[in-house]
Amino acid sequence: MRNKFLIALLFVITFASCNTVNINKFTNNELPVSERIDYLLSIMTLDEKIGQMVQIDHKGLIVKSDVQKYFIGSVLSGGGSDPVDNMPESWANLYDNLQNYALNTRLGIPIVYGVDAVHGHNNVYGAVIFPHNIGLGSTRNPQLVEEISKITAIEVAATGIDWTFSPCIAVPQDERWGRTYEGFSEDPQLVSLLGRASIRGYQGDDLSNPLTIAATAKHYVADGGTNGGRDQGNAAISEEVLRDIHLFPYIGAVDEGVASIMASFSSWNGKKIHGNKYLLTDVLRGDLEFSGVVVSDWDALRQLPGSYENQIVEGINSGIDLVMLSNGYVEFLSLLKKAVISGKVPQERVDEAVRRILEMKYKLDLFNNPLTDRSLITSIGSKEHREVGRQAVRESLVLLKNNNNILPLNSDIKNVVVSGKSANNLGNQCGGWSIGWQGERGNDFTIGTTILDGIKNGVSKSTNVIYSRSGKEVDNSNDVAIVVIGELPYAEFEGDDKNLTLSVADIETVKELKAKGYKIVTVLISGRPMIINEVLELSDAFIAAWLPGTEGDGVADVLFGKYNPTGKLPHTWPANISSGGSSETLFPLGYGLTYEK
Ligand code: GLC
Repeated sequence: MRNKFLIALLFVITFASCNTVNINKFTNNELPVSERIDYLLSIMTLDEKIGQMVQIDHKGLIVKSDVQKYFIGSVLSGGGSDPVDNMPESWANLYDNLQNYALNTRLGIPIVYGVDAVHGHNNVYGAVIFPHNIGLGSTRNPQLVEEISKITAIEVAATGIDWTFSPCIAVPQDERWGRTYEGFSEDPQLVSLLGRASIRGYQGDDLSNPLTIAATAKHYVADGGTNGGRDQGNAAISEEVLRDIHLFPYIGAVDEGVASIMASFSSWNGKKIHGNKYLLTDVLRGDLEFSGVVVSDWDALRQLPGSYENQIVEGINSGIDLVMLSNGYVEFLSLLKKAVISGKVPQERVDEAVRRILEMKYKLDLFNNPLTDRSLITSIGSKEHREVGRQAVRESLVLLKNNNNILPLNSDIKNVVVSGKSANNLGNQCGGWSIGWQGERGNDFTIGTTILDGIKNGVSKSTNVIYSRSGKEVDNSNDVAIVVIGELPYAEFEGDDKNLTLSVADIETVKELKAKGYKIVTVLISGRPMIINEVLELSDAFIAAWLPGTEGDGVADVLFGKYNPTGKLPHTWPANISSGGSSETLFPLGYGLTYEK
């Protein structure tokens, strides 16, 4: 009897000591991070480990307390997934609320929260929205790009968030792709230069600095090389082309220490990237020696073949560490647990993924500083930040035509007509990924300056600025008309376009004013080169302004000569688009005029 009691006592002591968590062994900053992670991995249950491998959109949580119940390691706000009133304070409250659930789990491992801050903290009301990357590509200015990302990091950190799914280092090869504007250029060298600068801006030289955030190089790989520019399509290209054009910017991103890489929805020669172990592991971990976190795209594993369990097994065994989900985390976790127990997903693979995720959290110093630093919130949309946004707009504009040096206009000009659907439309000038996933329309969705506002601010008090959206409300004149036309906002596959033609209404507006005798200065608001031949012919001057964001003053600064245009095309500008994608060139890569002295 006595022996049985002693054995039972020994068991209880042994079991208890196994389960006694020595907090110090994973929170003591004196200990090497690798040792702290080794200890955590040694005491984490399987549920706690697989919970770290889920990134759920906050709107996909059935109840917020599921972060605690399922040990969820990451949360995101996908495009447009904003808290109710979308104010900075609401974002910080959402973040801290979810973080506190994570901190109340057995081990208190903090969540890491990601958002698409791709041209400023573009989801949040009042944040500065900078030019989209195609405009930054026109600047060819890495210092400016680094500064923009640095400002974005501050405004993101001010809402508590730790991580942006940016920069997109796609190398768009076909302008029919709806995500062309998210890339810097068709030139991999330029993409690498600006992608590295952006990562430096977001991450600084120490991710534990509260003014820095983790960056994501995306979408790995050849997302911009699909046939016909089809979003999430198939890149039927040789490995040489894949490496020379599309992989090249990732070499620089890894060299800059990018914290994470997002896999692409697209396929390479018929195989989905999310299930391509050669690219996700052999090339990325072997050739490039990337040691950070590979995050999936939005529910992207569901695009793999077979059952959901098979999709999970293939994606994770191929090299996905963190799985981004819109919802359905309970089912996902149940299937992943089943796959690990059955051996289909090796325990070592789980531990490897969790190790990378924990490393990212330690680098961000989330164990010591998990909650929002509320002192930063006044920096959001500050005057200083907007000035940088305005400078970026100035440098992003590309002057394609300037007959008889009609530009710059004199700010003392007596009369000027301002026309076109995008002259007085903040939504159009911001483009996609601006408050809403697909962007917005009109002027009241955030704080900013329209191009019309900028023109009014840029001329003298004696100048008569006449706004006529269609050009129909003005009489004949030989005055100057500034006509702002182009694309309406879009994001991702919603922007795929086979023709890239201007709308009939846009062309009619230009024709209307030309017929009335006006000198035409056309400003194109678009996410990419478009087929502009007819309007270019009717214009005395033509500026490609891309998607400038909230600081419309920057356009007027160029129109009235406060800033001499320096922008150069980041894409070859086609004269036409054939169904096969080949085209004649209207303007070459790097083209851009400046004002004659
Ligand atoms: C989207 C995009 C990706 C984005 C992610 C989260 O589908 O492909 O660029 O970061 O989902 O919003």
